Amino acid sequence: MKKNVVLFSKIPADQQTRLEQAFNLTVFDDNTDYNSTSYTNALANAEGMIGNISTRIDDNFLAKMPKLKAAATISVGFDNYDLNALKKHGIRLMNTPKVLTESTADLIFTLMMATARRTVELSNLIHNGKWKKGITPEYYGTDIYGKTIGILGMGRIGQAIAKRAHCGFDMNIIYYNRSARHDIEQTYNAKRLELDNVLRQADFIVIILPLTEETTKLITKEKLALMKPSAILINGARGKIIDQQALFEALKNKTIKAAGLDVFEIEPLPTNSPLLELDNVLLSPHVGSATVETRYAMAKCAVDNIITALKDEKPTENWVNPEVG
Ligand code: DGY
Repeated sequence: MKKNVVLFSKIPADQQTRLEQAFNLTVFDDNTDYNSTSYTNALANAEGMIGNISTRIDDNFLAKMPKLKAAATISVGFDNYDLNALKKHGIRLMNTPKVLTESTADLIFTLMMATARRTVELSNLIHNGKWKKGITPEYYGTDIYGKTIGILGMGRIGQAIAKRAHCGFDMNIIYYNRSARHDIEQTYNAKRLELDNVLRQADFIVIILPLTEETTKLITKEKLALMKPSAILINGARGKIIDQQALFEALKNKTIKAAGLDVFEIEPLPTNSPLLELDNVLLSPHVGSATVETRYAMAKCAVDNIITALKDEKPTENWVNPEVG
């Protein structure tokens, strides 16, 4: 008999077909009534879940899914899952780490370049009919080539950023990471420093750390105060790593130059967020991996993951919690 699986995200039709062939699939979408009996029943009977859901997957949520054996998130980040609760209930979790590395590094570089060169601000100037004469110094940008980049987090995406910075922009690379990456230090001439020293020395600070208890609000008012007034801060990881109110104040008071943010404390960013008042912040709606090719690859990877996990085969490289067995 086919196992019951629930799908929480819209995925390409051919990948949904693979799920339908392998499982008895229930699909939830924006029109789902989360109070309906059909929703509750589907959760109660599901042995697998795939896709992204805004609710935290903790003991409370898992109480609604007593038969759940495996979950496949369509993301690299898994901070939405309570790993202790998954362990207690013996639930395997898989993510999609490799396939999004390059597009996320591209987006982070896009934010860096567009923030430094004030691309959106200058485009808006033309849209608003204000390009009447030559551009004066108040609109000048900042060079990227040859500057110092401080990368917080030297995982796969951090390394892809280091590659771009070294090979394309001849940047001096400093980084903060729990463990030293001697290979990266050699290949890209990178230097590992304490967090405070990275913040003090870098012209561009790029956050690409996972969100954990340790990294929540890692970038406080005090840490922001260490940064150069000319520094540009890019966050492509999770909004909760920065104290967003403190960042707003640093940007408003120009104690740092600018920020490019793909992620926020609350998403979608509330329409009354004070960040919206500022010219020196470039905002993007959590789109690090949002290209046609990468989102397809992520969906396919997650489908592969759930099929493997529910066949009782051991998942391989994408298994987040192998301690579950
Ligand atoms: C990821 O894959 O973790 C992206 O940030 C989307 O959540």
